[in-house]
Amino acid sequence: MGYIIALAGKGGTGKTTLAALIVRILKERQLGSILAIDADPNSNLGDVLGVNQGDSVGEILDRISAAPEKLPAGMTKERFIQHQVQAAIQEENGFDLLSMGKPEGPGCYCYVNNVLRGLITKLIADYDYIIIDNEAGLEHLSRRTCRSADMLIVVSDASNVGLKSAVRIMDLAKTLKFEFKKNGLLINRFENNILEEKIAETGLSYLGSLPADPEIEQLSLLGRSIFSLKPDAQILRSLNLLGEQIWKLK
Ligand SMILES: Nc1ncnc2c1ncn2[C@@H]1O[C@H](COP(=O)(O)OP(=O)(O)O)[C@@H](O)[C@H]1O
Ligand SMILES: [Mg+2]
Repeated sequence: MGYIIALAGKGGTGKTTLAALIVRILKERQLGSILAIDADPNSNLGDVLGVNQGDSVGEILDRISAAPEKLPAGMTKERFIQHQVQAAIQEENGFDLLSMGKPEGPGCYCYVNNVLRGLITKLIADYDYIIIDNEAGLEHLSRRTCRSADMLIVVSDASNVGLKSAVRIMDLAKTLKFEFKKNGLLINRFENNILEEKIAETGLSYLGSLPADPEIEQLSLLGRSIFSLKPDAQILRSLNLLGEQIWKLK
């Protein structure tokens, strides 16, 4: 069974960056097979990982529901969706990537969600690590396409507004009955400007912080992938130190 790390947090806090950094570190440490899931339709985990994104699950579902007569003979719709999704997984050197996208068509979501749920459960069993980059509103969690994680990381900046929204997101995950074995708050772009009491007031368990790293900004400006980051980059060193709490529990 895979070890699932789900990232949540409001837009712009660094979820996608962090998801990509975790993929890079797990890959370099050769800790096992990795599936990265881009569960934010407005996002770009593929770009940050330097991968051409394949079809998204949403596009596949739309295509099938627009032309249901195009099912191959003898194949059920469910089996066909599974087959197409399997084919959409981008296999890279050291990790795989699946983009969830978002079905736009008027299909029946209950059906779609049921199929997805089964699919994700099966997929997860095939990998050692699954990293899920969620959208801010936790839509996939609310549709219960993905129902649990071993580790839920809420990413935030150090501002009051940021911390409040981290608390709201954690509450939302609980309201949605999203199951997680462990959770933690991670402060991104830390600049020694946070008071311990402010973190304590959130009531969230504090994982640690990552520095603001100009190299990350530079990569993003130049459209380069996370793999172009120098091995001794400050942010990689900081994240490696947090590793024990994030992925070594498997
Ligand atoms: N620690 C960091 N230092 C510098 N820039 C960062 C850092 N974390 C994220 N960024 C930049 O901030 C922007 C938003 O990050 P992103 O990971 O896309 O956030 P989210 O996925 O939460 O919306 C990106 O341009 C990214 O390169
Ligand atoms: Mg993102």
